[in-house]
Amino acid sequence: MNIIGIIASPRKEGNTAFIVNKILGGAKEQGAETSAFSFGNLHIEPCCGCWSCHRSQQGCVIEDDMQKIYDAIERADAIVLGVPIYMGQMSAQGKIFTDRLFARFSPRFSPFFNDHAVKQRLILSFNQGNPDANLFKVYTDYTKQMFEVLEFEVSEVPIVTGLRNEPAHSKKDLDMSLKKFGSSLVLASC
Ligand SMILES: Cc1cc2nc3c(=O)[nH]c(=O)nc-3n(C[C@H](O)[C@H](O)[C@H](O)COP(=O)(O)O)c2cc1C
Repeated sequence: MNIIGIIASPRKEGNTAFIVNKILGGAKEQGAETSAFSFGNLHIEPCCGCWSCHRSQQGCVIEDDMQKIYDAIERADAIVLGVPIYMGQMSAQGKIFTDRLFARFSPRFSPFFNDHAVKQRLILSFNQGNPDANLFKVYTDYTKQMFEVLEFEVSEVPIVTGLRNEPAHSKKDLDMSLKKFGSSLVLASC
């Protein structure tokens, strides 16, 4: 099983990176092949709205690091998307990633939508400073539905809270619970 992680945070070693890497680690322990892409290391432009991707088979015309992610998504069985909450919504990096899916992964819109025989599974993981896990529930539920419209099977929406004064790596028991998300991704497909 091939699982890719997308770290939609500007911080290379921040909470989002920790969370995505732990989930991938749990999957790897069950035999999955994993790789991670971090916005902190990549140059990815926002969608420029040119619609070229819908006029021919060429895909997105922006020649940046999103091209590597398009290829990786094509080959992936499952995706772990980690997104920090910024101002009550996904980070700008998360939104850029989502908008760039328009080129290939939006069945409602894209005439060149790549239909996978089996839906790709997605763990959509949010993290936030505020300790209240329900604070952004309307938004996180809506975002889950949006990814389902894009034909991903959203298997889990873990929300890691209370990171304002305590970084993810120092949170007790978080390690274990994150790894379980990754391992269950593999075990559920057996
Ligand atoms: C610009 C900005 C806006 C933020 N807005 C919120 C917010 O609205 N609610 C919240 O609970 N935390 C908010 N946070 C805290 C982040 O969600 C939290 O620190 C997160 O774990 C950061 O992930 P990172 O370490 O990968 O950057 C904000 C942080 C930043 C930098």
